[in-house]
Amino acid sequence: MNESATKELWDRLASRQIDFIRFFYHRFFEHFPEYRRLFPKKMDAQMEKMVEMTSAVLRHSNNIPQIRPYLLQISETHRSFGIKRKDLVNFKAVFIGTAAKFFGDAWQKNYEDEFENAFDNAIIPILVEGLRL
Ligand code: HEM
Repeated sequence: MNESATKELWDRLASRQIDFIRFFYHRFFEHFPEYRRLFPKKMDAQMEKMVEMTSAVLRHSNNIPQIRPYLLQISETHRSFGIKRKDLVNFKAVFIGTAAKFFGDAWQKNYEDEFENAFDNAIIPILVEGLRL
């Protein structure tokens, strides 16, 4: 992933980043209601952290080693949830689907490719490693 159309798109959202994440969780739980019970009732802090993570991943997408410790730390917090590889793939699918819907006409194939890359080459393998799947 080069420095990066997706990062620009994300940065342009500015204060609407949180709306994107809210929309993501709404769709995540709509598609996979069984995940809801794992999460706290009140999701505000959670949403802020997800904004941070998305920003961090997009910022360092061409220097994955730099965000490796951060992603490993996220995997630690996920150990008790019984997550399998397919759950990570579900997360990715809803995340990218959410972006396509959220951005509507502004959404382009290269954004999708960049997100796919970030998940397939960084986020998922590092979480899989941290979760010891
Ligand atoms: C690529 C996949 C995923 C990423 C990048 C990701 C990222 C994050 C981040 C950044 C947080 C907030 C910070 C933290 O608490 O560590 C979080 C929290 C959480 N994630 Fe994930 N997550 C992923 C997949 C999943 C899946 C598949 C599930 C469950 C099915 C899940 C369940 C949770 C829960 C329950 C919390 C809230 C913990 C709490 O605040 O009590 N995550 N996730």
